[in-house]
Amino acid sequence: MTVKTKKPTPTADGSDDDPLLLRQPTMSDGAAVYKLIQACPPLDLNSNYVYLLLCTHFASTCIVAHQNHQLVGFISAYQHPEKQNTLFVWQVAVHESMRGRGLAQYMLEHLLKRSTLEHIKFIETTVDPENHASRRLFQKLAQQHQTELVELDFFQSEHFVKPQVEPLLRIGPLRTHLL
Ligand SMILES: CC(C)(COP(=O)(O)OP(=O)(O)OC[C@H]1O[C@@H](n2cnc3c(N)ncnc32)[C@H](O)[C@@H]1OP(=O)(O)O)[C@@H](O)C(=O)NCCC(=O)NCCS
Repeated sequence: MTVKTKKPTPTADGSDDDPLLLRQPTMSDGAAVYKLIQACPPLDLNSNYVYLLLCTHFASTCIVAHQNHQLVGFISAYQHPEKQNTLFVWQVAVHESMRGRGLAQYMLEHLLKRSTLEHIKFIETTVDPENHASRRLFQKLAQQHQTELVELDFFQSEHFVKPQVEPLLRIGPLRTHLL
């Protein structure tokens, strides 16, 4: 389903824009998602094939945002294989020109409002401790839902090829009726 939002999203030059279109991805989005992730460091760039799988097999738990016929946002997520009520959010990307306007949170909320995801009560994700924008996004999500955000050890430096840590953030229980 495509959702047309009325949220104002002015461009950097202040000109009028088409409305944002938020929807499930399709196979046709795979290459553009790859290019968006490539343009969004520090995200790890996965293969074009991985993004095709996300845009097809995992489309019901992923979301794309388009404006003026361009892909400006993407979230990949999947239902945790052992916790039915938990959505694991993998990558969140917003085009540089659209940052700081709440688009990432808006996409997350749209995802959570899908009738097929009504049973989701917790969000899990991992965040680089240095990625302040990403941390703020999940802190704001917890605030919006008036719920807890807990941080737990997860992927440690020895699990990566390059030194890096990715603690787990668990947000919930979600209160989607507050949205
Ligand atoms: C993280 C990211 C998805 C947030 O998207 P967004 O739509 O800009 O999110 P928000 O508008 O809610 O802003 C979140 C935080 O980003 C920071 N921010 C604000 N404007 C910004 C800008 N122009 N550029 C970068 N970060 C900005 C602020 O800390 C903000 O928190 P605040 O509202 O409390 O000030 C986006 O910055 C991005 O794509 N970054 C690169 C990829 C990445 O790191 N992804 C997250 C890892 S999964």
